[in-house]
Parts: sequence; structure tokens; C-alpha cells
Amino acid sequence: MYRSNTCGELNASFTGKNVTLAGWVQKIRDKGGLIWIDLRDRYGITQIILNESEDGADLISTARNLGREYVIQVKGTVIERSAKNDKMATGDIEIKPSDIILLNQAVLPPFLIEDETDGGDDLRMKYRYLDIRRNPVRKNLELRHRVNQVVRRYLDSQNFIDVETPVLIKSTPEGARDFVVPSRMNPGEFYALPQSPQTFKQLLMVAGMDRYFQIVKCFRDEDLRADRQPEFTQIDCEMAFVDQEDILNTFEGMTKAVFQEVLGITLPEFRRMPYSEAMQRFGSDKPDLRFGMEFTYLKDLTEGAGFPVFDQAESVIGIAAEGCAEYTRKQLDELTDWVKRPQIGAGGLIYVRYGTNGEIKSSVDKFYSEDILKQWLELAGAKPGDLLFVLCGKPEKTQKALNELRLEMGNRLGLRKKDTFEVLWVVDFPLLEFIEEEGRYFAMHHPFTSPKPEDIALLENDPGKVRANAYDLVINGVEIGGGSIRIHNRELQARMFSLLGFSDEEAKKQFGFLMDAFEFGAPPHGGLAFGFDRLCSLLGGSDSIRDFIAFPKNNSGRDVMIDSPSTLDQKQLNELSIAVTQPKA
Ligand code: AMO
Repeated sequence: MYRSNTCGELNASFTGKNVTLAGWVQKIRDKGGLIWIDLRDRYGITQIILNESEDGADLISTARNLGREYVIQVKGTVIERSAKNDKMATGDIEIKPSDIILLNQAVLPPFLIEDETDGGDDLRMKYRYLDIRRNPVRKNLELRHRVNQVVRRYLDSQNFIDVETPVLIKSTPEGARDFVVPSRMNPGEFYALPQSPQTFKQLLMVAGMDRYFQIVKCFRDEDLRADRQPEFTQIDCEMAFVDQEDILNTFEGMTKAVFQEVLGITLPEFRRMPYSEAMQRFGSDKPDLRFGMEFTYLKDLTEGAGFPVFDQAESVIGIAAEGCAEYTRKQLDELTDWVKRPQIGAGGLIYVRYGTNGEIKSSVDKFYSEDILKQWLELAGAKPGDLLFVLCGKPEKTQKALNELRLEMGNRLGLRKKDTFEVLWVVDFPLLEFIEEEGRYFAMHHPFTSPKPEDIALLENDPGKVRANAYDLVINGVEIGGGSIRIHNRELQARMFSLLGFSDEEAKKQFGFLMDAFEFGAPPHGGLAFGFDRLCSLLGGSDSIRDFIAFPKNNSGRDVMIDSPSTLDQKQLNELSIAVTQPKA
């Protein structure tokens, strides 16, 4: 038996007991004949104490020869500490060892294995197994495990069954870029890794599985951000014989169970907001509702004053930032530069200060009387002491830019608290969006999403107006999940592909298997997928999903620990019938 107890569980009730512990040496202190060793495992830290005048020379010498991260086994007796440490779970006791057995040595770790480490991102990724020894990373993985367990229990209790779907599938043109895998047995042909198990879960509904789930890896070759990894995990679900209401209720229940069991938080009933309203009020399909700063439409109040910028703009929209009237010129200039960056793309920033004494001052005083400016302020719900920001231009672009400014002001004013959760279903998404550069419609969610029955007639003349039975779960401004009611009729699916620019032949080649299946008695069905990594990072109060993935990729999509992706040798390439121009070293 390697150990009788863990390093996190001993307390005063164990006093006098003989125990055996095993773990890593966190720290050794050697002072005036006394030696303390902090022994660490996943469960905690236990202090070992040696006394030169009481313990044998061999034991003392073994202790003195230990180093940080050495792996040892300690046999000894639990004794009560004279100086207790109430910050530690095991702070009431220490171990008086009778034997210390060296299980393995360790070279000096490249960074401190402590809560606050001196290791930079790259170094910690290269030695991720050392990073995971640190409490914050370990706790994140433990949280991930707990969420996984709650989800499985909940879905099992609701009759969902876990079915695995293949990882080597077929490349399709819609969605993000595919990662592909060459097939040795079929020269010149490739598998694709799934961006999601979408078509398979629909086929499982045709197969009569009724309720499916899978906590499943998905792969997307897209540019990386804090909330995006090339391989990530979904809680993927599908249900037959349901309408949107059934799905929203089922997954509202699952989300509530997760928050309750993992964080002890009872969430109130989830709000719902149509997509059009979210765009109008917040300029985003994933509004952060932890704070207000709603959009105020000012165009009507700006007309006829001879200010050419507003007169020429299709829309003029403002937000009131609470308590910011005293912003300095420098702060305002800096914010103006911020909104003019290409990522935000605003032409400029107009402001109106509402002084605490009621005095109104703006960057457009020349054109607008105090009376008019006061009307703007009042419409925006500003109070004395607040500052109104105004952007103008084409409606969608202005809404998008103002959304960014709203979120930035939310950050600056500390309104986006990590321990507050505002949950929202965004519903009634448009079915299609027109992408100017491509000159065609794209599915806003995916091509299998069903239009709202009452909008089907619009598909012929005004496809952009068609709303979908599609929904997203948004928490604190993050898209945690999304899904839809699916098309389950061959003709409608074919119509959809044709709207998306597929010829009949292409549609048949890419998705014939699904359309064929629809002819064999496909039940009405729908579902959704949660971003599991995003859900965990939200629960854990982090913006980066990397913190909740054991072995993540860096921003260039590399695993710097195993050094991947990597080149293949010529023999392997030949076997795969792949000709590669090797990149220059
Ligand atoms: P969707 O593409 O919206 O839907 O994905 C579902 C959820 O997965 C998460 N997500 C990601 N997380 C981390 N890194 C990424 N690169 C990444 N991409 C997406 C998001 C998102 O809400 N098959 C459909 C679901 C359905 O219709 O049932 C789908 O994949 O949190």
C-alpha cells in the first residue's frame, strides 16, 4: 500500500495514528536543527517535521537531500502542531516521520509550482504537466469534471442516451474550415474531422433513438481567440418529437442544475429576447445583461441643425455612461482613438457631458442648443454626472461599434462582475444572412435549421426576412450554446440547399445521405449544443477557455509541449500519396 491517507485529509481527530503519505515535496525549510517538509498531492499539503536532536542521522540526511518536486513516501505518526495554521485544512497537525522513502528525484522545475507562479504562458504550456500541479489549474480541471458529471446525471435522468459518433467523416463546404486526414487506403481522398456531430445526431433521430447526447470533441480550423480552440468540446444534444419550447425548457433545467450543483447558485427563470430586439437594444446577438447602457436612437433629434456628419448618417445612436461626466480631455481622446481602430471601425466619437450641477457641454455645442442636448440626455436616461457617447453611420455598423464601446465601458466601470450571472435565450434568429463579398445567402446557424412555418412563404421572394426556429443560450455576453428545430422533409431541405447556392447535384453529393434518410420516416426533431469549455470557464470566472482544457493549443494552433503540428517523413508522405513542398527551415 503506497499510502493510507491523502495529503489533504488529516486533522486533529487523527492525532496519534500511524499513517503513510505519498506526494511531491513542495518546500523544505531547515532551521536550527528543525526541518519542515511540505508534502503535496492533489488533495492538499501536509507538513512533515523532523528534529535533529530526536530523529536518527539517516532520516535527517535523507530529508536534507530532498529537493523541490521530489516524489517521496512518508511513514509516521500524526501529532498536534504547537503553532496551528488555520489557513490550511491540515493546519492543526503535522507528521513525525519514522521513515522517508525516495520514490523519484526531480530536476528543478522551470517555474514555481505555486498559486502565483513566475512562469510565462509559453513556458507553462511547454511543461503543462507541471502547470497542472498548481492549485488554480488543478481546480479548473476538477470543476470541469464536476460539470461533466452533473450534465451526465441530468441528461440520463431525462432519458437521453450517450451515443458515440465517428471522428473520421466527410468534408463539407458550409461552416468553418475542416481539418482533414488523408486516407492511405484511398489515395487522393481525405476524411474530415467533425466540426460537430450535427448530421449524425439527426440520423440518430431518424433511427428512433429519441434523445441523444454526447460530450464530444469538435474540430474547426478557424482563427483562435480566448474563447476559441481548434479542438473543443460540445455537450451535443438532440431530441425527437419536440418543439422549441420543449428544448428550451429541457436545457434551462440542465443549466440550472449545473449552476446549483457546481456553484450553489439558484438561477431565476431565463429571460428570452428575439434577435431583432437584442440587436436594437444592444447591437449584439449576445448581449451582456449584467449592466444597462442600452442604445438610444437619436437620429430624429439631430435633424436640421446643420451638422453634416449626423445629417448624412443613416443612424445616430447613443449610450449613457454613468458617472463619467468628469472624464478628462485625455480620456475622451483615448476613447475616440479606441473606437476609430479598424477592429471597431467608427468614424469618430461625439460626447455630451451632463455635469453634476446640471451644466451640459458637448463636442457638438456649435450645432445643438442646450435644450436639444438635454433631450438627447433625457432620452438616453442620463442623469447629472453622466456622459453620453454618440456614434453614427450605417445602422448595422454603428450598432456593432457601439456594442464594442458599451462592453469596453462596462469593463472600465467594473460592471461586468465575474460572480454575477445574467442568463438569456436569444430566439427568432434570421434563417439566412446575405454576405456581400460572396454575393449569396449563408445559413445563419446551419443549413439544417428549419424556418418558422409562418415564414416559409417568404423563402421565395424575401429570404432575408425569414426567421428560423433557432436559439442561443447567452450568459454574461458569451454564446454558451446554440441550436434549432431541424428541417425533416426532403423537399424543404433541398429548397434550403438551393437557396444557399448548391446545385441539385452538389447537394446530393454532399448531403444526399441525409436527404435520403428524410424519406424513411424522419420524425420532427431539434436540439442544441453547449460549448463545454466555454461553460466551464464561465463558471470558473475566467475569460479564457484554455485555462479549462488540460492540454490546449496556443494562439497559433500549436501544442508546444508535444511540438505539433509537425512535418512527416517522406516514407509516410509517399504512403499517403501526398506531395508536399517542405517549408524552408
Ligand atoms: P455552434 O456552431 O453554434 O452549433 O456550436 C455550439 C457551441 O459550441 C461552442 N463553440 C466553440 N467553443 C470553443 N471553441 C470553438 N472554436 C467553438 N466553436 C463553437 C459555442 C457554441 O455556442 N451543431 C450545432 C449545434 C446544434 O444546432 O445543435 C453547432 O455546432 O459555445
